[in-house]
Amino acid sequence: MSSPAKRIALLTSGGDCAGLNAVIRAVVIHATNLDWEVFGIEDGTHGLIERPVCARKLTLWDVDTFMLRQGGTILGTTNKGNPFAYPMPDGSTQDISDKIIEGLHSIGCEAVIGIGGDGSLAILRKLAQQGGFTLIGIPKTIDNDLGMTETSIGFDTAVSVATEALDRLQPTAASHDRIMILEVMGRDAGHIALATGIAGGADVILIPEVSYSLEKIADHIKAIRKRGRNFALIVVSEAVKTAEGENLMVSFENGETRFGGIGHYIGAKIAALCKAETRVTVLGHVQRGGQPSAQDRLLASAFGVHAVELIREGKVDRMVAWSNREVIDVPIAEAIAHYQQIDPQSALVKTARGLGICLGD
Ligand code: F6P
Repeated sequence: MSSPAKRIALLTSGGDCAGLNAVIRAVVIHATNLDWEVFGIEDGTHGLIERPVCARKLTLWDVDTFMLRQGGTILGTTNKGNPFAYPMPDGSTQDISDKIIEGLHSIGCEAVIGIGGDGSLAILRKLAQQGGFTLIGIPKTIDNDLGMTETSIGFDTAVSVATEALDRLQPTAASHDRIMILEVMGRDAGHIALATGIAGGADVILIPEVSYSLEKIADHIKAIRKRGRNFALIVVSEAVKTAEGENLMVSFENGETRFGGIGHYIGAKIAALCKAETRVTVLGHVQRGGQPSAQDRLLASAFGVHAVELIREGKVDRMVAWSNREVIDVPIAEAIAHYQQIDPQSALVKTARGLGICLGD
């Protein structure tokens, strides 16, 4: 049997989102058509710690069109276990980066396509520099906070899911004269909340990039009620702080923390100030699962094909990106460095204000 022209590794890393399988499919189809071999690494870099490494050759048989429609990632992923400070059973941390690089070399891969957000791409980049392998990044994150790309895989689906939630909350809010609060995800950036609030006709959108006053929100809702509308919709991003400036978090048994609680906080405060009934929906991981939207499937397909092309052209240390109706590529370092929160002067913030939506300020 003739040896392949190239052998590349593919992995998904960080929190999952809709559209990851569509990227895997695009990479495998394009690379296979070039007579390359693609090895899918399981559970991000974790698969490279195991011996033998947890990796399998992906063929056209593995990536039928069902992959376009399927949420999650067939490779598995993790947002834990930084290999440069890997948690050991005794509570200490250890640098196991050499083991991961050795694992990659053991399957003869000369390049890695890493699908991840800013944290994962930063780790993969450090590994690539240390191990001397080619790395091409593909941006994915429902938070849409990676720099140098207009959008990332998973964002559009998350916004569609959250918008559908508002569509469902509105009639029940109207039936019961209630104020509905929808808490959406977004670690430190309010892109999901802003896009959802506009698309779903919210009256109030709270994002971490714009500080708010509870009284201003209450006045806005009172004015709506005075005009004769009996309900209101509020979208709040999980990373919004309390009026006192505190981040509300939930803690897990393993000591990790995540945002959680701001929806209920806003609900209680607004109920008291407006003397109205409030109900809170925390959307959570529903935003990450399920079928990817058509937009995410397109983005995933375009990104996957372009990533393979970059390896063919001998490019290194690049991330594929979306800009001005085109797939382009940018230095991974710049994408990581330019963390993208919402610019308070951006078009969507102006749109929200132009529609009379209260941002709390
Ligand atoms: O970064 C993606 C994200 O979904 C954030 O929006 C959210 O805060 C976080 O991950 C949740 O992480 P986990 O899946 O570990 O609960």
